[in-house]
Amino acid sequence: MGEKQKAILYTQDQIKKRVRELAAKISKDYAGSELIIIGILKGAFIFMADLIREIRVECQVDFVRCASYGTGSESSEKVVMTKDIETAIKGRDVLIVEDIVDTGLTLKYLVEWFKERSPRSLKVCALLDKRKRRKVAFEADYVGFSMEDGFLVGYGLDYGERYRFLPDIYVIKQL
Ligand code: IMP
Ligand code: MG
Repeated sequence: MGEKQKAILYTQDQIKKRVRELAAKISKDYAGSELIIIGILKGAFIFMADLIREIRVECQVDFVRCASYGTGSESSEKVVMTKDIETAIKGRDVLIVEDIVDTGLTLKYLVEWFKERSPRSLKVCALLDKRKRRKVAFEADYVGFSMEDGFLVGYGLDYGERYRFLPDIYVIKQL
């Protein structure tokens, strides 16, 4: 796979500002509570690391990993969990943190999965939202940026496991 042509969509500064705003809203909504924040590996790891350092609410972290087949750009129809959390969430306030909502399949699956364990509350925070690409109805509670179609890389997001390390978010010009 050769180097892809890409253009900056959101700069580090724009991301930082938006992450701060999201964290401020979350801190306000959960004031006085103790949150369990669940990051979806691998894509959400950078966003989550930045987000929790701006959140002013006591929190614990855990991670879940969902596999989607292939290493290209199309999300798999079938969601399979390959790593579950290790924290008991019954009666707790839980916030799932995701890099990007695309078809909505992953988050719909995870919300159902975690709801069965009876958390006190369960919400979702996604840095990016490609609303038009939904295959199933799904609304995140906190969204950083809503955008049209386009494949994004950087700031944790990959294309075939590449580009996660880039500090800005890029759109790939041609897949
Ligand atoms: P969904 O289940 O289709 O909503 O897919 C969500 C997952 O697909 C995300 O967690 C990402 O890992 C991946 N994904 C979707 N769109 C993009 C993108 O533009 N860049 C990188 N990964 C993406
Ligand atoms: Mg992901």
